[in-house]
Amino acid sequence: MGRVQDKVVFITGAARGQGRAHALRLAEEGADIIAVDICADIATNAYPLASRQDLDETVRLVEKLGRRIVARQADVRDPAALKAAVAEGVAELGRLDAVVAQAGIAPLGPQQGIQAFIDAITVDFNGVVHAVEAALPYLPDGGSIVATGSIAALIPASVDNPANGPGGLGYSFAKRSVAAFIHDLATVLNSRRIRVNAVHPTNVNTDMLNSGIMYRSFRPDLENPTREDALESFPATTGFGNPYVEPEDVADTVLFLVSDESRYVTGMQMRVDAGGYVKKRPQLPTF
Ligand SMILES: NC(=O)c1ccc[n+]([C@@H]2O[C@H](COP(=O)([O-])OP(=O)(O)OC[C@H]3O[C@@H](n4cnc5c(N)ncnc54)[C@H](O)[C@@H]3O)[C@@H](O)[C@H]2O)c1
Repeated sequence: MGRVQDKVVFITGAARGQGRAHALRLAEEGADIIAVDICADIATNAYPLASRQDLDETVRLVEKLGRRIVARQADVRDPAALKAAVAEGVAELGRLDAVVAQAGIAPLGPQQGIQAFIDAITVDFNGVVHAVEAALPYLPDGGSIVATGSIAALIPASVDNPANGPGGLGYSFAKRSVAAFIHDLATVLNSRRIRVNAVHPTNVNTDMLNSGIMYRSFRPDLENPTREDALESFPATTGFGNPYVEPEDVADTVLFLVSDESRYVTGMQMRVDAGGYVKKRPQLPTF
């Protein structure tokens, strides 16, 4: 028996990065997956988002593990598309036990205008609400809701520094809002024992981090910083001195939160940050 044997989990942003890692870790432990991803770019986001081929690869890898997956191209800003994807997934897979709302963008850069602020919020916050809204009608008592925030939600003046432009401010606003939403949603769902938790990663070794715009964010002193230049600054956001965590490190926490091992764990702001938060805010309690 796997740790999430025969559960069905809806994951947004599942074509690559952390979303794919979550799909694979959950499938390894016996879950079937409903996966969505935009599979298209967003103009204010300077690095490319996932492709249809990436989503197909997630499908292939989940099936290779012997589990089922229903994958749809859908934008988390489109509630109707998410509802349709979940309905089709549940029709095929028979149930829904958990949602992992984690699709996200980082439309950083001083050259990006006000639209970047709006895009960060509509994808990184509204997208979480839409995913929860699509999942809720199917979630049983004792189900699990997980949303990905960021350590940027908890540490002021990190991503929301002026060098990152309006998109950086929008990103931090969205992630703080995810943290607050998860807290209050947990209160609302107590009576049904549905657990609601946020995961806040530090730097994660994905395409979001490995992008020119992120290198510039970490090395504003250089005009065209390379990954090697950024690697010197990445450890500033962790306490352990490592530059980043791997998507699989975050997936292990998501697996715990989806599994019944966390049946009495709710309303948590779970940091997977290698000590980054306590380094920056040593005297303050958790959010
Ligand atoms: N990488 C990091 O350093 C880091 C740190 C903290 C938090 N996060 C958060 O982790 C989450 C996952 O990011 P990642 O690191 O895997 O990056 P990533 O860019 O590899 O993956 C994000 C995925 O979301 C998809 N996506 C983006 N906008 C979408 C939309 N509107 N609708 C549907 N899908 C959409 C992308 O196509 C992509 O597959 C995000 O919420 C991000 O903000 C990342």
